[in-house]
Amino acid sequence: SPALGVTEWSDVADWWPRLGPASEKYTRGVVGVATGSATYPGAAVLSVAGALAGPTGLVRYAGSARADVLRRHPSVIATGRVADAGRVQAWVCGSGLGTGEEAARELRAVLAAPVPVVLDADALTLLVDGSLADRLRRRDAPIVVTPHDREFTRLCGEEPGADRVGATLRLAAWMNAVVLLKGDRTVIGTPDGRAYVNPTGTSALATGGTGDVLAGLLGALLAAGLPPERAAAAAAYLHGLAGREAARGGPVTAPDVADALRPVLARLR
Ligand code: APR
Ligand code: MG
Repeated sequence: SPALGVTEWSDVADWWPRLGPASEKYTRGVVGVATGSATYPGAAVLSVAGALAGPTGLVRYAGSARADVLRRHPSVIATGRVADAGRVQAWVCGSGLGTGEEAARELRAVLAAPVPVVLDADALTLLVDGSLADRLRRRDAPIVVTPHDREFTRLCGEEPGADRVGATLRLAAWMNAVVLLKGDRTVIGTPDGRAYVNPTGTSALATGGTGDVLAGLLGALLAAGLPPERAAAAAAYLHGLAGREAARGGPVTAPDVADALRPVLARLR
């Protein structure tokens, strides 16, 4: 396969999990979501909304925005801490989590789980702490990091620059993680040098909280068993289409993007 590809609808349709009559929760995927805080409960609600939008069998939320999450999404099983969350098949961590001691403890618990993880926002800030970065390099299960430009710069010490594919691939190799560098054309790069560019982006997505929805959806695709680079490319592609779908109704907010994932994903069946 070529080293650089533009994701297409037919790719996403090929990669999409086939659910049969015997599918149950663990076939669809159980997603753990460790996001949000007392200061940023909305990030938890949005990442959970993204996680629920996938093929998802169950979402387990762990964190201090339990009450807000349950009010909005009663099907979620919520606990206060990652250590008490029970079995999941992928974790999403970081959006609105904060960067204090408690947040670092939750991130360590997520990294200790032998399942794929999505690290976003504050989890990326916490990774700049060297001991956590080291833990990451020694991890066997896949990691997907989802920085925007400022988070990318903090992670790797330099700006993405004009060659965004090259910059993404360098960070992916250095972190031994799949990197999803957000932008109007989001780039996904793997540690072994393969890259996807996403063609569905829209400036309708340039509004606070849409990144949290993306992280949740990506976690759902990992939990459903997609390999990390496919999960990342498919999540970016569908998120872009949802942004376009939402924009048909006027100015877009992040909850609109989460809602618009439903009609977009309906076309995959
Ligand atoms: N074209 C296409 N897609 C875009 C564009 C654009 N012009 N601008 C943004 N996007 C997409 C990105 O690709 C990404 O999927 O919107 C999403 C934005 O995600 P984040 O940058 O993570 O923003 P978010 O976390 O939702 O915003 C919350 O937190 O970190 C801060 O500065 C951030 O103020 C922001 C807030
Ligand atoms: Mg963000």
